[in-house]
Amino acid sequence: MTGRRRVPPPLALALAAALALAAALAVAVAAQAQTRPARGASGSTAKAAAPTAPTAAAKAVAADYAQRFATVCAACHGANGRSDLAGTPVLAGQHSYYAITQLFLFREGRRSNPAMTAVAKGFTDADLRGFSDHIGTLPPQPAPSASAADAARMKQGQALAQQHKCVFCHGADLAGGQQVPRIGGQREDYLREALQGFRSGQRAGYTQAMGEAVSQIPPAELDVLAYFAAHVAVAGR
Ligand code: HEC
Ligand code: HEC
Repeated sequence: MTGRRRVPPPLALALAAALALAAALAVAVAAQAQTRPARGASGSTAKAAAPTAPTAAAKAVAADYAQRFATVCAACHGANGRSDLAGTPVLAGQHSYYAITQLFLFREGRRSNPAMTAVAKGFTDADLRGFSDHIGTLPPQPAPSASAADAARMKQGQALAQQHKCVFCHGADLAGGQQVPRIGGQREDYLREALQGFRSGQRAGYTQAMGEAVSQIPPAELDVLAYFAAHVAVAGR
C-alpha cells in the first residue's frame, strides 16, 4: 500500500462552498433578525435603526427576483409561494437561509428532483441569493383552523414530535428558523415524502441532522408526524 487514497470529497467541498455562501447570507439574516422580536419578548417590535437600509440598486435587484419568481417559480410553487400542487412545497414563510442551502444542493445535484434540478442547474450564486432572499420575504400562510384536524392524530403527532425531539430543532410550533426549515403548515404529501426520503437516505441533507433524526422512526410514525406538522397552528415569522 503506497500512500493514502485521495478520494475527492465532493460533498465536503460542496458544503464548504455552501457554508461560505450561507455565511455571507447570514450577515443579511442577522441584520434582519435584529428587527424581529426575540422569542418571548413580544413588546419589542420596534424596528432597529437601519444603518443598512437597502440602496436603490438593492431594491432593483429584489424587484427583479420578485418578478422572476412570479414568472418562473409560481407556476409550481403558487403565487407568493402558496403551493397547491401535489408534491410541491409551500415556500411562503420559509427562511432564506434554509432556501439557499436547498437551492445550492439542487444546483450541485446533491438533492435530486427533475423539476428543481432543471430550474437550478443554471443558477449563478447571485441567483441562489436573489431567489432565497425573495422567499424569505414571503409571508406564511394563515394557520389552518384547528377544528379541521383529527384531534386524536394531532395528539399522537404532538407526542411523537416531543419524543423524537423534532421540536428541539424545528421549534414548538415547527416554524423553524435560519437553516432549519419551517415545517408547520407545509403540505402533508410533501412532508411525508421528505421524511421517507431522509429515512431511506434518498434525500441527502445539507447536514446529517435529519438522517439521524428519522433513521429509527417507523414509517407509520413519520406519517403521523407529517399530518401533525401540516395541521399545526404555526406562528408568523
Ligand atoms: C416544474 C415545477 C417547479 C418549478 C418551476 C420550480 N420548482 Fe421549486 N420545487 C419543485 C418541487 C417538486 C420541489 C420538491 C422537490 C423534492 O421533493 O425534492 C421543489 C423544491 C423547491 C425548494 C426546496 C423547498 C423545501 O422546502 O425544501 C426550493 C427552495 C425551491 N423549490 C425554489 C424554487 C424557485 C426559487 C423556483 C424558481 C426559480 C422554483 N423552485 C421553481 C417544483 C418546481
Ligand atoms: C438536530 C436538529 C433536527 C432535528 C432533531 C430534526 N430536524 Fe428536521 N430538519 C433539520 C434541518 C437542519 C433540516 C434541513 C435539511 C437539510 O439538512 O438539508 C431539516 C429538514 C426537515 C424536513 C424537510 C423540510 C422541507 O421543507 O423539505 C422535515 C419534513 C423535517 N425536518 C421534519 C422533522 C421531524 C418530523 C423531526 C422529528 C422526527 C425532525 N425534523 C427532527 C433539523 C432537525
